[in-house]
Amino acid sequence: MAIQTFGVIGSGQMGNGIAQVAAMSGLSVIMNDIAPEFVEKGIKTISRNLDRSVEKGKMTTDEKAAVMARISSSVSLNDMARADFVVEAATENEKIKFQIFKTLDEVCKPEVILSTNTSSIPIGRIAAQTKRPAKLIGMHFMNPVPVMKLVEVIRGIATSDETFQATWDLAIRFGKTPALANDYPGFIANRILLPMINEAIYCLYHGVGKREDIDTVMKLGMNHPMGPLALADLIGLDTCLAIMETLYNGFKDPKYRPCPLLQKYVEAGWLGRKTGKGFYEYS
Ligand code: CAA
Repeated sequence: MAIQTFGVIGSGQMGNGIAQVAAMSGLSVIMNDIAPEFVEKGIKTISRNLDRSVEKGKMTTDEKAAVMARISSSVSLNDMARADFVVEAATENEKIKFQIFKTLDEVCKPEVILSTNTSSIPIGRIAAQTKRPAKLIGMHFMNPVPVMKLVEVIRGIATSDETFQATWDLAIRFGKTPALANDYPGFIANRILLPMINEAIYCLYHGVGKREDIDTVMKLGMNHPMGPLALADLIGLDTCLAIMETLYNGFKDPKYRPCPLLQKYVEAGWLGRKTGKGFYEYS
């Protein structure tokens, strides 16, 4: 089936980034969230991102207008009846995602692939909420979505070859480079990245170094574009904790235990950039 209309569930930092790259690839996009103000905020973020591209001469104002015109707002999952492919990028909460997928399964055309941007929930568990497990797949974008080249494509145990190929091809159409991972906790990206971030938090917790020194070591010593603590703030400390818990519970291996300092920050509501405070302060 040719994909023309692309549905995105969630208009937050991942959802609006995915909507932007889909619209830039020429697809009509339905961006859905639970309240109109959330969708509005997502649309404003996309518009701001594209303004920067116009200012830098990478896009004309007409091209920007055409991309924006391809994005429509939605606050009802019923609108996904029009979609030819859906990616879910809602909050990283199993109960919420399960409910969304049950509804999508009822609303969407039977041939439609339902993908999830989950960073930690097993694809097989999400697929089991639906009557179309062969059409369930992980499509894991990286933050910030418009900039990062990778899409991790995660095959669940029941994912069909057709579903895999269509998702792989779509990632390429979005200008991304896909990489295939199988359905184990954390997949590939977060299985490797999050223990490193967690260890950086342990360095802070144990007083091995100050936040700036820990980040400087990894930036200048290992050529990482940003330090692990700054990156944790970008990802969101609640998401980092959720991923560490998935690794810890999934493998039952103590090497994945989340640092108590990470837990403490999350309990305090210090979630990183999105709340104005994490390991650093943001205005
Ligand atoms: N949205 C859109 N574009 C953005 C952006 C955003 N949020 N942030 C930066 N950019 C763009 C800038 O406009 C700029 O574009 P041009 O090259 O066209 O000028 C470009 O990105 C570079 O930005 P800056 O010069 O401002 O800053 P930088 O060079 O320090 O790059 C960065 C910023 C891209 C975030 C870089 O620091 C980086 O790559 N950091 C690591 C990010 C990373 O590891 N992401 C993965 C997180 S893990 C994940 O997402 C998965 C998960 O499940 C947890």
